[in-house]
Amino acid sequence: MKHNKAILITGGAGFIGSHVVRLFVNKYSDYHIYNLDALTYAGNLENLQDIESSPNYSFLKADITNQEEINGLFDKYRFDGVIHLAAESHVDRSISDPLAFVKTNVIGTMILLNAFKDLWHNNFEGKRFYHISTDEVYGTLGETGLFTETTPYDPNSPYSASKASSDHFVRAYGETYKIPFVISNCSNNYGENQFPEKLIPLFINNIINNKPLPVYGDGNYTRDWLYVQDHAKAIDLVFHNGANKETYNIGGFNEWKNIDLVKLLCQEMDIKLNMPKGESERLISFVKDRPGHDLRYAIDASKINKELGWEPSVTFEQGLVKTINWYLNNKKWLESVTSGAYQSYYEKQYT
Ligand code: NAD
Ligand code: TYD
Repeated sequence: MKHNKAILITGGAGFIGSHVVRLFVNKYSDYHIYNLDALTYAGNLENLQDIESSPNYSFLKADITNQEEINGLFDKYRFDGVIHLAAESHVDRSISDPLAFVKTNVIGTMILLNAFKDLWHNNFEGKRFYHISTDEVYGTLGETGLFTETTPYDPNSPYSASKASSDHFVRAYGETYKIPFVISNCSNNYGENQFPEKLIPLFINNIINNKPLPVYGDGNYTRDWLYVQDHAKAIDLVFHNGANKETYNIGGFNEWKNIDLVKLLCQEMDIKLNMPKGESERLISFVKDRPGHDLRYAIDASKINKELGWEPSVTFEQGLVKTINWYLNNKKWLESVTSGAYQSYYEKQYT
């Protein structure tokens, strides 16, 4: 079949990106989906084994911080649309190595923008650059209130500062070079295939291995959790129906204090692992707080709901149980990720 659009998805071997790639490959047989990923520690092609032989899918191993390499790929494949997810994404890593975040998240985004601008320059008709961003650009909320699309940017971590900066560059390229763009800022995601360094998969893995659950500070920090496949559906809607130059906030209408979430997770794990009630909770260990720890994130997702008809399809309890089941049924994936074995998959499969 002739593919009438070439769509580039960056970071497609990562957590959210793999769900977006799968959704697009399965749903849009008339698009060719190019998954571009450098396969850093967070990129795992085993996430996409089920679709890797689809005729409308190709994997491109490339680094978004290499302008020459990226320009070559844009010239060769002439991407009509870009959905940009590739990033360094973990706040704790950004505290120990902030420059890596500037390089990938800021410079890498600019390199993609440059390549897109140079490819289409004065003829952007039917083209779109979509930047996937985070609610963390807005900084922190107090006990009340919600982030809206007009909340001023006020990032507190090197990660959120790098994402805020890349959002600004996307907007600036839109104004200056007329690149058609759209941005979405989403809350914390959870679900299948998340690298076990983020709260939920880390704690699932630690409970399986009877290791302590390190809760930062007093655990009274609040996040708004969204099931990853609902984020992928929102990305599909924003990419196709979002208005040019607009921002859409995406969230789960689902706030949890860390400590309450961890207790719920422990209860579910006790049930799944046939352990006595309270067994997993005994692993909770309050540890030194994260520097600059944002107190609370919560999203007002009414714009995407009203304008594009999006809403989460699962409740948190349903999504959490799906997630726990997935990790328990995919212990091999967890072992391969924690041992580093997944990093040889590309060599075995693609070279
Ligand atoms: P992730 O860390 O799981 O995946 C990132 C992917 O980007 C990996 O596959 C990695 O190999 C790739 N990558 C990193 N550096 C690269 C480079 N220089 N060149 C090419 N590829 C590179 O991240 P995620 O959690 O899936 O997040 C994806 C995007 O969504 C990020 O932009 C993140 O800021 C944003 N986001 C994440 C969340 C969340 O809760 N995880 C919430 C809102 C927004
Ligand atoms: P995380 O999953 O790293 O996402 P983010 O920092 O982007 O929100 O962390 C979610 C919350 O859980 C955050 O308040 C920090 C806290 N946290 C812990 O208490 N212990 C941990 O080991 C981790 C990874 C996070």
